[in-house]
Amino acid sequence: MAKKRVLSGMRPSGKLHLGNLFGALANWVKLQDEYDCYYMAADWHALTTDYKDTSEIKSNIKDMVIDWIAAGLDPDRSVMFVQSGVREHAELHLILSSFTPIAWLERCPTYKEQVQQLKDKEINTYGFLGYPVLQAADILIYRASAVPVGEDQLPHLELTREIARRFNHFNKKVLVEPKALLTKVPKLLGTDGRKMSKSYNNCIYLSDDEKVVKKKVSSFITDPKRIRADDPGHPEVCSVYDYYKVLCPGEVVEIERECRKGSIGCVQCKNRLWDSMVKLLKPIHEKRKELEGSPGIIDKVLEEGRQKAQETASETLREIRAVMRI
Ligand code: TRP
Ligand code: SF4
Repeated sequence: MAKKRVLSGMRPSGKLHLGNLFGALANWVKLQDEYDCYYMAADWHALTTDYKDTSEIKSNIKDMVIDWIAAGLDPDRSVMFVQSGVREHAELHLILSSFTPIAWLERCPTYKEQVQQLKDKEINTYGFLGYPVLQAADILIYRASAVPVGEDQLPHLELTREIARRFNHFNKKVLVEPKALLTKVPKLLGTDGRKMSKSYNNCIYLSDDEKVVKKKVSSFITDPKRIRADDPGHPEVCSVYDYYKVLCPGEVVEIERECRKGSIGCVQCKNRLWDSMVKLLKPIHEKRKELEGSPGIIDKVLEEGRQKAQETASETLREIRAVMRI
């Protein structure tokens, strides 16, 4: 039987960090064993919030895709491509726009929130309101049956399903309603104790070398009540402990016990975490080096991906045009 298809996308934000790895990418890598995978750099989506300065979109795509492959996405098993290279998404976006009620978009929880939060970006625009319709087109054009996403994207996926239903109701049933594959996003805070985010400048990047990682890990905020190394600690308030849960689940029980007893100091505890992080990143760095030693490889992967994606997308669009008699 043919494998089921998944599609997912990431905005091209440049180099990826540990939050991206554990929040999405590691799951994308796993899904390759079971699904026919399409992974997209969503550059048109980036445009909806960052239209004022588009100068870095191209280089950000490249940096991001290097990390995708370094972390284990395999060009032989996954179709990796850039959204704007497959113009069919834009045509389907336009078609879906014709029957998507504005009220569906206005009530999307991400919409009002972001218009408020990103005031200086002036995203009170037609394009930003329609962002979820573009996302629906991205998914429906591949007739993906599942979409791996984090919780924040669930409203967009629900909207995609509603749009597919509405299309199928007016026309022949050619669109597939996709399911969400919810990725549980673990809590990994940045070096300053806030959410890990590029804009806060508090990230550990997949490309950071040992020394940089060491410096960043030592700056993590731990239990503020521990003054001396043998003070009993409270791992539940410590970001280092959260990292243990994700990176070395086998050591969590022991670390917790030693922390509470005060038999391990924070410096030692961080050193151990650093060791695990270096081990995690080593194969990623090796692969990255290999990629950097083959110039043109990323462009080639993306061009091959574009061709495959376009084949599938244009086939769907042909059917859509036929059932709509357009
Ligand atoms: N909106 C998604 C995000 O900001 C990115 C995205 C674009 C996407 N198109 C998609 C995700 C299609 C899943 C499916 O993270
Ligand atoms: Fe955190 Fe480890 Fe220090 Fe406990 S010993 S407070 S878990 S760094």
